[in-house]
Parts: sequence; structure tokens; C-alpha cells
Amino acid sequence: MEEIVYVLALILIFQYTGEDNWMKLDRRITNLVITGFSGTGKSLVAKEVARRLNWDFLDTDDEIVKQTGKPIAEIFRNDGEERFRELERQAIREACQQNQLVIAIGGGAIIDPQNYESLAEAGLIICLEAKPETIYERLFREAACNPETEVRPLLAADNPLERIRQLKATRQSYYAKADWTIHTDSLSIREVAQEVIEAWRLLGPIDSRQMSDASDEDIACLVETATQSYPVFVGYGLLDKLGEKIKKAALHGTTTIISDENVFSLYGTKVKGILKGAGFSVNAFVVPPGEETKSMEYAVRIYDFLVEHRVERDDIIIALGGGMVGDLAGFVAATFLRSIPWIQVPTSLIAMVDASIGGKVGVNHPKGKNLIGAFYQPNLVLADCQTLTTLPQRELISGWAEAIKHGLILDEQFVQFLECNVNGLAKLEPDLITRAIARSATIKAQVVSEDEKEKEGKRTILNYGHTIAHGLETATHYERFLHGEAVAIGMVGAAKLGQRLGLLPSATGERQKALLQKFGLPTSFSGLGLTEITRAMELDKKVKEKAIHWVLLQDIGRTVIRSDVPQQDLLFVLRELTNL
Ligand SMILES: NC(=O)c1ccc[n+]([C@@H]2O[C@H](COP(=O)([O-])OP(=O)(O)OC[C@H]3O[C@@H](n4cnc5c(N)ncnc54)[C@H](O)[C@@H]3O)[C@@H](O)[C@H]2O)c1
Ligand SMILES: [Zn+2]
Repeated sequence: MEEIVYVLALILIFQYTGEDNWMKLDRRITNLVITGFSGTGKSLVAKEVARRLNWDFLDTDDEIVKQTGKPIAEIFRNDGEERFRELERQAIREACQQNQLVIAIGGGAIIDPQNYESLAEAGLIICLEAKPETIYERLFREAACNPETEVRPLLAADNPLERIRQLKATRQSYYAKADWTIHTDSLSIREVAQEVIEAWRLLGPIDSRQMSDASDEDIACLVETATQSYPVFVGYGLLDKLGEKIKKAALHGTTTIISDENVFSLYGTKVKGILKGAGFSVNAFVVPPGEETKSMEYAVRIYDFLVEHRVERDDIIIALGGGMVGDLAGFVAATFLRSIPWIQVPTSLIAMVDASIGGKVGVNHPKGKNLIGAFYQPNLVLADCQTLTTLPQRELISGWAEAIKHGLILDEQFVQFLECNVNGLAKLEPDLITRAIARSATIKAQVVSEDEKEKEGKRTILNYGHTIAHGLETATHYERFLHGEAVAIGMVGAAKLGQRLGLLPSATGERQKALLQKFGLPTSFSGLGLTEITRAMELDKKVKEKAIHWVLLQDIGRTVIRSDVPQQDLLFVLRELTNL
């Protein structure tokens, strides 16, 4: 079975990397087709996807039952399989005539070449995969829950698990023809549906793209926390729609733009014009660029400005800039008049994929970074990827580390996407960059939606690579490395630790390193004493009065938290990371 999956993976990789433009299909597709073996959740997933996209849903088996007035098992029994296949072909032909339809097909339908041709012509084919053991368990559970329905023929076999294995093996080469495969074993229906929508976003046609569960085509994802639910808009040239999006969010007050000198000199006039054009009055407070500005001193200066301009509870703060501006402006929004609405307009890559999502706001204290702050979610996030064209190259490269991190911790397919599109992404090709940022933002959004205030532990996985990174940053007084650079080295270190602990195959560690290098990120360092770094990490640990929680990888997309990493292993890895 594992061999089959491996072959399947190779086929998929070959299929995609063989093309110049990996992510664009040359077919005109307007539907989504969900295929896969019984028990992979095709019908439920298709229904959920249809609901979220506001499309229609059709299950070909249900259509056949409707048309004949007989259950499928009875058609098989009385009229024979050939008759069933004929009915199935007809149902598929008809479904393929439609648009914006999510079609769930029977487990064996795709074997028929005629069916495959019609489906591939009309839709993006997504295959839901599951291990035979998972399938068996799901079918068994389903049968136990619905004792009155007819037992699936698969379960009626002498050794059902073996029968599933055999039948699945004979069909695997047909399932491999799907455009995208989702492994569903450890996912809920909701999560699989989300994956399907992501695949549609990555592979679907650009003009008829449905970005997510909301009808707004610019929405990359929703952040849904206990305190606030808000959209993250990602697009190229999206600044033009800022006024419109704010109005749609039912915000009407005066706007105060908070930005730094670099960003404001590039985009200030434009954003002011857009807001005024949409009928908003606009104030602006511009701060010097740089991390030193993220301080109580500047927060107070902004409070003074807001008081002077008689800003009220319904007025809106707009953070226009990188993560520094976002954290500072968000902190002011969280605290001024006990909180006022605010909007994130991130302009750096780190801010787009990471800092603008999740509501962590704050300022630095002379004794430490981010020591003063709050969780306060914005009303919306709007990322215009075009603004990245003016971001200094080193800042841009640094930002990729966090995007890559999101793939490494949770999303193997996104890692593949990044691997295959490095050149286009480095050139900021509009379509690719929009897709990458939307996907990365979605991953962050999912994590924070599940664990808004870092209480459930889920948010911890976002710290992958950050333990060593903090050591490096502190030991060099935040002067030598940009954050993403330190995180890249930290992720290489974490992978090496995983390898030493027998958690991660060395090939996976190499794959991660190669990807970081392709994006121009550092994967080693020199000229720094190891004790300086471990002392900095030790300090970090003492503050928390507990062991360091290492986020390690077991595979791409699969993390584990370990608090028992021996010091000598850490030292060994740090030594390996130096160029000595
Ligand atoms: N809140 C969170 O969850 C979170 C997560 C990660 C990082 N952060 C914070 O974010 C900050 C780092 O973010 P950052 O890297 O964006 O730093 P930054 O805001 O300092 O921006 C980096 C530099 O790029 C410039 N810049 C930004 N956008 C530009 C553009 N489009 N064109 C030209 N120049 C542009 C800025 O003026 C600045 O000089 C840190 O303070 C960090 O603590 C917060
Ligand atoms: Zn980070």
C-alpha cells in the first residue's frame, strides 16, 4: 500500500514538475469533481464545499437512485453492474454540462475512460485518499450507526479489510489521474473541505476563482476566534478596494492612518486618496521606521494625536506598513478609549503572511521585545501584494522564511507549490505571489482560529525554528539577523535536532534546507560563540520558568513538541550550524 502511495506521489510530482507553469491547468474548468474510494467522505465533503462556495452539489449515486427509484445495491443485484455503469455514465455526462457544481462520483466511476474524459474536461478532479484501515473503520462505523441501511458489499466480504486493500490497489492508478490528492486519514470533513477549496484556489481558473466560503472573491480566508471573526483579503492591486472593503465591514468613522516614513512616502498619498474617494475623512500619523519605534513612547505620541483630533469609539485606525507598524498601531487601537476598530494593511511579506493575522499587538520594553501587549483582533486585513515590489530585497527574502515555515509545519502541498515556483515567486509574479500569500495567511488563520490566545497549545507550532532563532537574535542584540533569517537557520537546527532524536528522516531535513536556500535564506552562521547563543536561550527559559518546548518535525506537515532535548544534542547541532 505504501508503495502505491509513493508511486502515486511520484506520478503527481512528475506530472506537475514536468510543466513549465506548474499551477495552471490548460483546461477550462468550471466544476469540482470529488473522487476516491468508498469511505473517504466524498459526498459529505462535496456538500460542505458546495455550501461554502455557494455552488450546487450533486452526487451521481443519488441521481441514479432518484431516476430509477431503486437503491444502488438493488440495481446491482437485479439489473447487473453493466446497467449501473450505464446509468452512471449518463448521470456524469449530464452533470458535466453544468457550471459551478461540486460533483461527488462513485468510487469506481473514474475507471471508465469516457467518464474520466468528461470529468477532466469539465472540472478539477480531487481525489480523497485514506488508508485501507481508515476506510474499513469508517465503513464499519457507518454501518453500526445505520443498521437499517443495506450493508455495503465491501463489508460483506469474508475479510473486508483485505478486500478493501485489493480493490483499492486495482483502482489506484485511476485515482492517480486526479489533479490533486488529499490524504484524509486524520482530517475532519470540514478540514478536507477547506483543503479542496485551497486546491481550487491554487489550480482553478483565475477569472472564475472563488476564494473561500464568503462570496467576496478577494477573501483568502476568515479568521474565526471567540472574540472576532474577520476576513483576510489578499490580491494584487487590492489597495484600490480598501475604502469599499471598509464600508462592507460596516465601519463608518473617521480614519487615522498610522504608518512609517518609508511606507507612507510610497503609499500614503494613494491610500489617503482611496479613503477620501470612498467618503472617509482621513488623518495620518507617521512614525520613524525601525524596531525602536515600537515603544510606549510612540504609543503615547499616537494617543496624544488621537486626543487632539477628537477620535471617538467608532473611528478607525489603519495600520499601513510592516509588522512594526501593525504591532504598534494595533496596541494603540486595543487600548485607546478601551479599544477602537482597526484595520491591518500589511506591506511587508512578514506582515502579510504572519504579523497581520492573529491579533497579537504590542510594544517593546527596554528590557525585552514584545513585553507589553494584548490580543486584539482587527476588523479586517487587506494585503496588496503589489506593495511588495518596493520592499527591500533582504526584507522580502526574510519574509519567505515564515511562509515556508507554515508549509513545513502544516501543509506539504504548499511546500511543493513553493518548491516548484521559486523563480516566479522571487519575481513577484502577480498570480503566484497572490496564491502563496493567500495560502500562507490561511494556514496562520487556521492555527489562530483554533487557539486565539495561545492557551490550547496549537499556536505553539508556529514557533517552529524560533527557539534557536531567538538565541541568535538575542546573542547578536537583534542587529545582525533579520527575523526570518534567524528563523531559517533555526529551522535547519530544529530539523537536525529532529534527525538526532530519530524523529525526522535526513532526506526531509535536506529537502527543507534546499528550499530555504532556493529562496536565498541563510542556513548556517559563523563568528558567534555557542555559549552566547545557549546563554540567550537559557535566559529565555528562565523567564518562563520551564523547560524549552521544542517544536520539531516528524515529517513535512507534521510537528511534535518535545521538552526533553538533551543539551549535548543542542550543542552538537549548533556546532553543525556554524561554518567552522
Ligand atoms: N504580531 C505578530 O503576530 C507578529 C508576528 C511576526 C512579527 N511581528 C513583529 O513584526 C515586526 C517585524 O515585521 P517587519 O519585518 O514587517 O518589520 P518592519 O515593519 O520594521 O518593516 C521592515 C522594513 O520594511 C519597510 N517596509 C515595509 N513595507 C514596505 C514596502 N512595501 N515598501 C518599502 N518598504 C517597506 C519598513 O519601513 C521597514 O523599514 C517586529 O516588530 C515583530 O515583532 C509580529
Ligand atoms: Zn516569527
